[in-house]
Amino acid sequence: MSDPPNPFEQDLPRRLIPPTILVICGVTGDLAARKLLPAVYELALGGELPEEFRLVGVARGSDPEHFMARARESVEQFARSGLDADLWGRVIAPRMSYLDGDLTDPELFTRLHAHLDELDAAAGVRSQRLVYLAVAPSLFGPAATSLGKAGLARGSDPQVKVMVEKPFGRDLESSRALDAAIHGAFDEPQILRVDHYLGKETVQNLLVFRFGNGIFEPVWNRRYVDNVQLTVAEELGIGHRADYYDRSGALRDVVQNHALQLLSLIAMEPPATFAAEAVRDEKVKLLRAISPFSAEDVLRDTVRARYTSGEIDGEPVPGYLEEDGVPAGSTTETFAALRLEIANWRWAGVPFYVRTGKRLPVRDTEIVITFRPAPHLPFGPDAGAVRPNQLVLSVQPDEGASLRITAKAPGPEMRLRPVRMDFQYGSAFMRASPEAYERLLLDAMRGDATLFARADEVDAAWRVVDPVLAAWARDEAPLDHYRAGSQGPGSAEQLMVRDHREWRRL
Ligand code: BG6
Repeated sequence: MSDPPNPFEQDLPRRLIPPTILVICGVTGDLAARKLLPAVYELALGGELPEEFRLVGVARGSDPEHFMARARESVEQFARSGLDADLWGRVIAPRMSYLDGDLTDPELFTRLHAHLDELDAAAGVRSQRLVYLAVAPSLFGPAATSLGKAGLARGSDPQVKVMVEKPFGRDLESSRALDAAIHGAFDEPQILRVDHYLGKETVQNLLVFRFGNGIFEPVWNRRYVDNVQLTVAEELGIGHRADYYDRSGALRDVVQNHALQLLSLIAMEPPATFAAEAVRDEKVKLLRAISPFSAEDVLRDTVRARYTSGEIDGEPVPGYLEEDGVPAGSTTETFAALRLEIANWRWAGVPFYVRTGKRLPVRDTEIVITFRPAPHLPFGPDAGAVRPNQLVLSVQPDEGASLRITAKAPGPEMRLRPVRMDFQYGSAFMRASPEAYERLLLDAMRGDATLFARADEVDAAWRVVDPVLAAWARDEAPLDHYRAGSQGPGSAEQLMVRDHREWRRL
């Protein structure tokens, strides 16, 4: 049964997608189970997949029957619309196949090539091939090389694209080495680097907010903006990911990618078109304009901290060092804050504060733009405190925008109060947003690279965090602590107090 038409969606065009085979390497892993397979299912449910679509799962140590059962289970468990058994049996299952093999074995890719050709021959079409490497990052390079040797990379016909997900290296140097390995087999337009934040509807809405409205651009600069805060806060701890997380830390895990992506969208110059290269060119320019951290800057303008035991939603939770799998003596940060400056005409002198952390009191990703105060208030000293205008762009969980303005409280006196003008994304459009991976897979299939990170973007983002990582690795900045469930470490508050500002409360 289909829903009644949504009046707010009428006239939105649907785009044609060429025949596609999506290959998921590592299909029995977590990313495939939680995100990729449910996303494919939702696309099928929404009628968004191309008519000629096939999915090939590749992994080691499974078999077709087991794979099909697991795939169905993961859709049942993780798809936002729940499993429609009829759709699964009629539309999805017949389009899926499984190939067993070791991703370090080049012979697997020769078999894969033959399998893809067989699928095309049986369907009587030639399909573009998307190969999603949902595997450990150490396999990205070798898998790309093997794809190349098997004739599934540069110059192959039908075309092949490879999708990879962060981490792209662990610093500037290793990221460049990884990029060189992938470029050994693929040209840049064939490489789709996934940063799932870019697939979030509300992140894309940042661009529409800025560039689809005429009233914000004139005030979006140093003359009107006092400061910008960007927060990616999570209630969650590290779960069962100690092995990954302890080698990563908050700066690599979130700042280098998600946070700097958000920052570039908020602060970049208006692109002339929404074409992939136009948008990505502007993002790169912005990232390159971030002032590099000197050793002194790292001490003054960065904060690293880790959570100790505390409470989240009234439940006791362990500290980072007590989490399963975290090595004793670890110095990995679970919270990072930075004060950045962007050295260009638009932003010179405007501080950008970025913070991210695990085990903060709420899950909240938001951008807060605080404007300069009104230059003169003609209401007299008794009118009450006037707060500067503040625009909060909320990315999750309550997507929307909220503008703080000053209003007169009702009554005979001239008393001023801050109030908020709110826009809620969900209620305005009467439907839930699609998951990020749905959008990203769809864009990959239709050949739109706008929401994927280009090599020079990733490079520019590493250049920002690299000196901080290096100084932290040398223990040059003290590792602070915060109680799980608190607002974060005192040193992050200090970063603001020093500038006579404060973080928006979580
Ligand atoms: C991932 C990080 O990239 O993003 C995780 O590795 C983090 O540590 C996650 O929890 C946050 O994503 P989201 O979509 O839940 O905000």
